[in-house]
Amino acid sequence: MVCLGNICRSPLAEGILQSKINSKDVFVDSAGTAAYHVGNLPDERSIKVAQKYDIDITSQRARKFIVEDFDKFDFIYAMDKRNYQNILDLARNREDEVKVHLILNESEPSQNLSVPDPYYGGNDGFENVYNMLDEACSAIASKL
Ligand code: 4NP
Repeated sequence: MVCLGNICRSPLAEGILQSKINSKDVFVDSAGTAAYHVGNLPDERSIKVAQKYDIDITSQRARKFIVEDFDKFDFIYAMDKRNYQNILDLARNREDEVKVHLILNESEPSQNLSVPDPYYGGNDGFENVYNMLDEACSAIASKL
């Protein structure tokens, strides 16, 4: 799960998908394409909205997406089109490229929609992001 800062959207996506799958079979992680918040806890508003749905994301710490992630993961989900392009720019070959997907295409196929960046908004934005990611992660979990 990849967003820009790895403190708002992708930590929620990680927590939500983790809650829907058997964690012994699937390793879920998240990262950001930017390093601004490396080592930080998720944003308090993400922690709060996750808690509301009984998901604890407080053990997560932000990290930057690195090229080795292409070797470690089978599926790489970008939260928005900018992250998608930034990840693709790091791809070394076609095998890397085909791993990268826009997460909302899982719930709304071929629409190429972005999860809006909630960082500069209020709590409503986080609830909206949670609901979008919940739907997309249900689709991913049913495929896995
Ligand atoms: P995220 O949100 O990409 O969903 O983690 C953001 C977090 C921080 C910033 C931007 C977006 N920032 O500019 O610091």
